[in-house]
Amino acid sequence: MTSNAPIGVFDSGLGGISVVREIRRQMPNESIIYFGDSANAPYGTKPTEEVRTLTQNVAEHLASQGIKALVAACNTASSAADTYLHQTYDFPIVEMEPALKVACDRGHGKPQRVIVAATELTLNERKFSALMQRFSSKHTVYRQPCPDLVEIVENDQLENHDLVMATLHRYFDEYDLASIDAVVLGCTHFVFYRDYFRELLPGHVAIVDGNAGTVRQLHHLLEINDTLADAEAQGGAKLENSDTSTAMATLMHKRFEGDS
Ligand code: DGL
Repeated sequence: MTSNAPIGVFDSGLGGISVVREIRRQMPNESIIYFGDSANAPYGTKPTEEVRTLTQNVAEHLASQGIKALVAACNTASSAADTYLHQTYDFPIVEMEPALKVACDRGHGKPQRVIVAATELTLNERKFSALMQRFSSKHTVYRQPCPDLVEIVENDQLENHDLVMATLHRYFDEYDLASIDAVVLGCTHFVFYRDYFRELLPGHVAIVDGNAGTVRQLHHLLEINDTLADAEAQGGAKLENSDTSTAMATLMHKRFEGDS
């Protein structure tokens, strides 16, 4: 059996569009409804309770549209939601967390020095602490909140090279980058900065994000549920936002179609 029902994907704003792009790459036959909650962004500096409520509202908005799976393309919402989404819906749910395991596994047993860049909420919540516990006895893990990187994307300043590089230097100059093995982009907004991080970091430092793994997990869940789209289905993405301005619609399409 197949299902041509859409997959719901959401984020606090524009960051999850980087995940939508990866779904389009890996699963071009799937239809996607994306909801960015830019009117309420950022989530990462808000109290957990508030983000949990925002996440519940967005999930309900997508669930009411007959989706066959839900992707929380937001590490912050995934941390705040805790077990709520899994307990509430019976379709497959995919949540995100910083790809620390991927960064540590790159060492093939050798201790790694890893910076996890994410939101304050993600880095302070239980979900990330549990992840840290699995790796911090063997590896050195630094937590680096980067709230301005969310704002820059939401304010359409991503092409402002000087602003972005100055912001990255502000967050990362305190590290001895030559001694670091990997930087984890633990917020979907940060995935748009890959080229800037490449410019900032010494060549040997790996830049790791969880988007490809998240989409592989989505594919796996749809496969075992027998709800992958028909091979002939013409997939696509519909982009919605709680900020209903024309400027936001234009910005969403820019991020969806852009090459960063
Ligand atoms: N894109 C979100 C994430 O992956 C968070 C951005 C925000 O602070 O709203 O964590």
